[in-house]
Amino acid sequence: MSSLFSPFALKDVVLRNRIAVPPMCQYSATDGLVNDWHLTHYAGLARGGAGLVIVEATGVAPEGRITPACLGLWNDDQAAGLARVAAAIASFGAVPGIQIGHAGRKASAHKPWEGDDHIAAGDPRGWATLAPSAVAFGKGLPQVPKAMDKDDIARVQADFVAAAVRARDAGFRWLELHFAHGYLAQSFFSVHANQRDDEFGGSAENRGRFLLETLRAVRKVWPEHLPLTARFGVIEYDGRDEQTLAEAIGLTRAMKAEGLDLLSVSVGFTTPDAQVPWGPAFLGPIAQRVRKETGLPVASAWGFHTPQLAEQAVAEGQLDVVMIGRALLANPHWPHQAAQELKKDKPTWVLPAPYAHWLERYQPQRG
Ligand SMILES: Cc1cc2nc3c(=O)[nH]c(=O)nc-3n(C[C@H](O)[C@H](O)[C@H](O)COP(=O)(O)O)c2cc1C
Repeated sequence: MSSLFSPFALKDVVLRNRIAVPPMCQYSATDGLVNDWHLTHYAGLARGGAGLVIVEATGVAPEGRITPACLGLWNDDQAAGLARVAAAIASFGAVPGIQIGHAGRKASAHKPWEGDDHIAAGDPRGWATLAPSAVAFGKGLPQVPKAMDKDDIARVQADFVAAAVRARDAGFRWLELHFAHGYLAQSFFSVHANQRDDEFGGSAENRGRFLLETLRAVRKVWPEHLPLTARFGVIEYDGRDEQTLAEAIGLTRAMKAEGLDLLSVSVGFTTPDAQVPWGPAFLGPIAQRVRKETGLPVASAWGFHTPQLAEQAVAEGQLDVVMIGRALLANPHWPHQAAQELKKDKPTWVLPAPYAHWLERYQPQRG
């Protein structure tokens, strides 16, 4: 019996297996709107057999997008397009999820394949960025964000709530708050980005306040019967890892008490000087520790790219859900291949009938 292919229930949602598509920006939108690319991309991933498909980081406000080509969820037209994406994902038997976020001081960037750097000041495609403190990401970088005042904080938190309402009404059944990867929420938590001396800075409790308050506000509008999750960088690989991890676990416990249902464990990415130990499944033991010390179900990504690594992570109790990113971009039918490799009985069950019927007995001829 494969662990990876066992169903996973959380609140009223049941994933058909433990394979999830993590949020992956497509940098393909105009004015934050869904187009044919997004529809076919997300439908294709759901058709491939994953249990959960999480739509990419979607900005809660125009200035919260990473690039001008990122999706948004601050108006009803954007919500209507995303409703089509959610319906397409669900039509293929996957649970439709969405990650909502604010990119903070990492916003206003070029697309990765056009440089990935900040859009120069004065370029009409860019915009002024927001952060807990007026500290640039990396020494010597020209893009210094505005330190948010209390009104800015309240407005962005209200933007998260409004986006959550739109995501709910658009038919998403799994919400992920983007509290990771050096974007706004993560930078409030990080000593590298947060130099505030008010109740949002200083102690770990204060640095966690923006995240906790945002989660609390979203929980009030996100249905109790649906999973509310967050992606959070619990470690930076910057030399103070034990302290960061202990603080992150403390904050995760507090978020659990406020209604968080699952944590997607990731890396902080708030300093360009981090020494991340890239390698297969490197976050597995960290995720397992978070799972054990908080009692929350966990997911994680980064290098669980073979069926064996993914199976092992679930079987050994490191992860409840395994995020498969780039391997699914390379092959959206990765779940089918994994079912075959793990010798699952009738591996074609992960495919829709119009494919499964033909592939049941099909053996490609070689040579
Ligand atoms: C094209 C691309 C876009 C990404 N966009 C996001 C994003 O929107 N939100 C996020 O939290 N992580 C994002 N990530 C990180 C992925 O969710 C995932 O953590 C990463 O690809 C590592 O998993 P993998 O080794 O299975 O690919 C992105 C990664 C890729 C390759």
